[in-house]
Amino acid sequence: MTPDRPRTVVLKKNLARSIRQGHPWIYRDALDVRVVPDNGALVEIHTRDGRPIARGFWDERSPIAVRVLESGGPGYRFADVESLVAERLQAALDRRLERLDLSKTNAFRWLHGEGDLLPGVHIDLYADTAVVRFDGDGARAFYDPFEPRLRLAARSRLPIRAVLDRSSRKPGAKKNERKVLENGVRFVVDLAHGQKGGLFIDQRENRVRVAERARGKSVLNLFGYTGGFAVHAAVAGARSTDTVDVAKPAIEAAWRNFQLNDLPMDRAKFHALDVFAFLTAAIERGDRWDIVISDPPSFAPKKAAVPKARRAYERLHKLASEVTTRGGLLCASSCSSHFGKDEFLASIEAGVAQAGRSWAFEALYGAAFDHPVLPAFPEGDYLKFAMGRVG
Ligand SMILES: C[S@@+](CC[C@H](N)C(=O)[O-])C[C@H]1O[C@@H](n2cnc3c(N)ncnc32)[C@H](O)[C@@H]1O
Repeated sequence: MTPDRPRTVVLKKNLARSIRQGHPWIYRDALDVRVVPDNGALVEIHTRDGRPIARGFWDERSPIAVRVLESGGPGYRFADVESLVAERLQAALDRRLERLDLSKTNAFRWLHGEGDLLPGVHIDLYADTAVVRFDGDGARAFYDPFEPRLRLAARSRLPIRAVLDRSSRKPGAKKNERKVLENGVRFVVDLAHGQKGGLFIDQRENRVRVAERARGKSVLNLFGYTGGFAVHAAVAGARSTDTVDVAKPAIEAAWRNFQLNDLPMDRAKFHALDVFAFLTAAIERGDRWDIVISDPPSFAPKKAAVPKARRAYERLHKLASEVTTRGGLLCASSCSSHFGKDEFLASIEAGVAQAGRSWAFEALYGAAFDHPVLPAFPEGDYLKFAMGRVG
C-alpha cells in the first residue's frame, strides 16, 4: 500500500454523479492521465474543473483503470488509507460473525471486494484457512502486504492458520484439503484445485431453501459440482438424489461428501456426464424428479455472449422442466451479471413453454448475505436463483 501523496487523474467523461453515488469502477477511456501512476498507486480523481471527488487505486493493465475506495463532495476530507482498509476489513468480519454460528458454518466469504467497499480483493474462509483473491496486479500491489492486515483483523476471533493466494495455485499441485461445515453439513474442499476457491459458498442460503422442501422427495442436482444441494437435500430426508456434473473430480468429491455425512449411499446416484446428454437420455427413459436444481456455469461471461446464452438457458430450462414431475419444483440459477433478472426469468418461462409445460413462479433469490451487493453497482449483482412449480 502506498501512503504517499496520491497522483491526480482527471475525469473526461461526466461520471462524477455515479462515482459519488458509489459506483466503484472507472474505465481507462473515461480518464485523462498526464503522468501514468504505478500499478497499485493511490490516485485522486478530479473533475475537469479541478475538484477532487474520489480516491482509489490504479491498475496498469485492466480496462478498469481505477477502483474507487472513497468518494465525497466539495471540502470532503479523505480518510487515511491504512486505517480505512483496517476498518473495512474489521467491519466486514463483524457483519459475518454477527450472523454466523462458527460451530455450524465455518466456510464463508469474509470480504466481498466492491460489496464490502474494499474493491478488487476477496477473502473466503475455509475452517482455519483464508483464501485471498486479487482482481489483477493493481489490487495486489495496492493491498500489499495483505496477510498481516488480514491477521490483525482476525486476531482472536478467527482461528487462522494459513493464508493462501488463489492466483498462486498450480494445476499439478498436491491436493490441499480441508473439512468444513455449512449449516452443520460436512464438506471436504480442495483448496488447491477446487472451483471458486473450493465451494460455491454464494449458494449457501439457497441450499437451505431447497433442503426445506426436500423431505421425502426425489432430487436431481444438475451441474452439481461437489454435491452441495444434493447433500443438504439428503440430510434433510430426500427420498433419493442424483448429482450430475461433467467434472469427474467434482463427482468423486460429491460421493465423499455423502460418505462424510453418513448418508445412505443406496439412495444417492452420481453421474460424471454432460448435463444436456444426461437430460436427453432421462427424457427418453421417461425419468422424473420432484425437485430439479439447475446451477450452470455462466453462459454469458461477457455482454456479447448474451444472445447465445439466452438460447442455451432456454434449452436447459426446456429439458429440466421435462424431467420435473407435475407440481414439482424447478430451481434455476444463473451466475452471469450480464444476463439480468427479467431476462433470466423470461428464459425459464420460454424454455418451460417450449416443453409444453407451465412454471408458476414462487421466488427469486440472490447470493448469501456474505456476498453483499451495492445499490449503485448492479455489476456486482450476479447470482439469481429462481424457484417455481412446474405444471
Ligand atoms: C456454478 S457450478 C455449480 C455449483 C454447485 N451447484 C454447488 O452448489 O456447489 C457449475 C458446475 O457445472 C459443471 N459443468 C459445466 N458444464 C457442464 C456440463 N455441460 N455438464 C455438466 N456439468 C457441467 C462444472 O464442472 C461446475 O461444477
